[in-house]
Amino acid sequence: MCASETETLLRVEALSVAFASLGRSLYAVRDLSLSLRPGEILALVGESGCGKSLLARAILGLPPENAKLEGQILFQQRDLLRLSEAELRSIRGRQISMIFQEPMTALNPVLTCGHQAAEILTAHGQEHSRARVIEMFTQVGIPEAQSRYDSYPHQLSGGMRQRVLIAMSLLCDPLLLLADEPTTALDVTISRQILALLVRESRLRHMAVLFISHDLRTVETFADSVGVMYAGHLVESAPAAQLFAHPCHPYTQGLLNASRVTPQASQKRLLTIPGVVPTLAAMPPGCPFAPRCPRVLDICREHFPPPTRLADHTVACFAQARA
Ligand SMILES: Nc1ncnc2c1ncn2[C@@H]1O[C@H](COP(=O)(O)OP(=O)(O)OP(=O)(O)O)[C@@H](O)[C@H]1O
Ligand SMILES: [Mg+2]
Repeated sequence: MCASETETLLRVEALSVAFASLGRSLYAVRDLSLSLRPGEILALVGESGCGKSLLARAILGLPPENAKLEGQILFQQRDLLRLSEAELRSIRGRQISMIFQEPMTALNPVLTCGHQAAEILTAHGQEHSRARVIEMFTQVGIPEAQSRYDSYPHQLSGGMRQRVLIAMSLLCDPLLLLADEPTTALDVTISRQILALLVRESRLRHMAVLFISHDLRTVETFADSVGVMYAGHLVESAPAAQLFAHPCHPYTQGLLNASRVTPQASQKRLLTIPGVVPTLAAMPPGCPFAPRCPRVLDICREHFPPPTRLADHTVACFAQARA
């Protein structure tokens, strides 16, 4: 392993994202720590409402205005939570970029795709270059990239729009790409192609990716490591091979069992793990998974389990710690 692979690109340290409501703090992300090496693909998985997007937005320096953040987000050893807006702007889009779930809303409908891509270059002090944009469009598999430069977003299919967004996110050669459920709006075949493209670009460019998904099985084929989030907490994290071979947290096990039932797991999952993710206002004391957990102990209802670590596999579960 070369030296650059052993260093850390991003280290999130005890991050909390909270919202004030009726005089108390409601935590959407709580005491979360994770790290990414250059070139690593880390998949972050959990059901809807677990705090995945808020975490990504915090890393990008774009949390909701009413959010209160605590902890540290160290990117190349600089704490992003303590940088000025101008410093963040110079990192955002250039060293850290993000692609979102819905390609239509992320694009400006009244500008051509090529024009808005070229604007990314000028926003970061580079030349407005039609040639560079067309070259990037071609790299991400947009056919007839010359004429697509002048297309408006509504003239493209969902898959092509997502390719445009990927091209835009890669233009400044970022070190870290935040991909927030980038294929949810696409059908299965197109979604596979987009995933393959992201993985290829990550490997080619040695670009780290934080890949957000609600489906563990989707990430199994390409993630280097996996973090499982539940109700704002990172409940388990490990290298991907280790996590899939030995899932330890009952929530991870539940997600895996659910997705074994049927490839279209999203609806069956709720049947297989009874109950739903608690809302922020109704967060139970102790472990938030306790009300749904098949292995719940008395202590789980009162205290959140401290994470235990064996090599690079971390689990926050009292039942697991006692097994
Ligand atoms: N601006 C806000 N004010 C109050 N609560 C918020 C705000 N933004 C998000 N939340 C709450 O924070 C929690 C986590 O939201 P988040 O969007 O990060 O979930 P997610 O894991 O990305 O879900 P999904 O898979 O549906 O995208 C949710 O309960 C959500 O309602
Ligand atoms: Mg989300």
